[in-house]
Amino acid sequence: MTKIAPSILSADFSKLGEEIKDVERGGAAYIHVDVMDGHFVPNITIGPLIVEAIRPVTALPLDVHLMIKNPDAYIPMFASAGADIITVHQETCPHLHRTLQLIKDQHVKAGVVINPATPAEMIKEVLPEVDLVLLMTVNPGFGGQSFIQSVIKKVEKINAWRKELGLSFEIEIDGGVNVNTAKLCTDAGADVLVAGSAVFNKEDRGQAIKAIMQAAQG
Ligand code: DX5
Ligand code: ZN
Repeated sequence: MTKIAPSILSADFSKLGEEIKDVERGGAAYIHVDVMDGHFVPNITIGPLIVEAIRPVTALPLDVHLMIKNPDAYIPMFASAGADIITVHQETCPHLHRTLQLIKDQHVKAGVVINPATPAEMIKEVLPEVDLVLLMTVNPGFGGQSFIQSVIKKVEKINAWRKELGLSFEIEIDGGVNVNTAKLCTDAGADVLVAGSAVFNKEDRGQAIKAIMQAAQG
């Protein structure tokens, strides 16, 4: 069964707790938390304070996507705030292996993510170290952008390497996922689909999550 990770970036922040409970009831598998610093990406969003505030609201894993420069300086803070998975961009980590170890040292699952323009080869060496590989299907920074279909070839490549190397990390897709694009992702090997606007811009979030799951199964 495909897992759906609603991105709270598209939620109503004036009632964030309620929004999270709503998607949890609706069948979400993870809560995807988009952390942006205004440097690596042209937007500023959530910090450890919000992660700490939403931690007691849900039993679901908090899937924290760090779109920030120098993530090493903040990983311990996000871990103690209650993150269950911390994912870092290869583009921000000159010592990626060390950064992934730092995440694991906090007893948190470690993820690595690459932008649409970054080749899969850039993370091949660290695949044995990660619990999750996140592939961006938009340029990070904003919700509601359109799906970049050429990334699908990269998803297939990562999936093939996972088999070849006998690894068991999850493959997650982020950006422009909706009922029209979900199946492209799962056919290519994705296990987890992040969906922001396709969930939170709908009145009935449970229905929206189920529709994406159904579309993903084909
Ligand atoms: C993009 C974020 C995404 C975004 C997804 O920078 O990493 O998680 O919120 O939003 P949608 O699903 O609307 O593309
Ligand atoms: Zn994200």
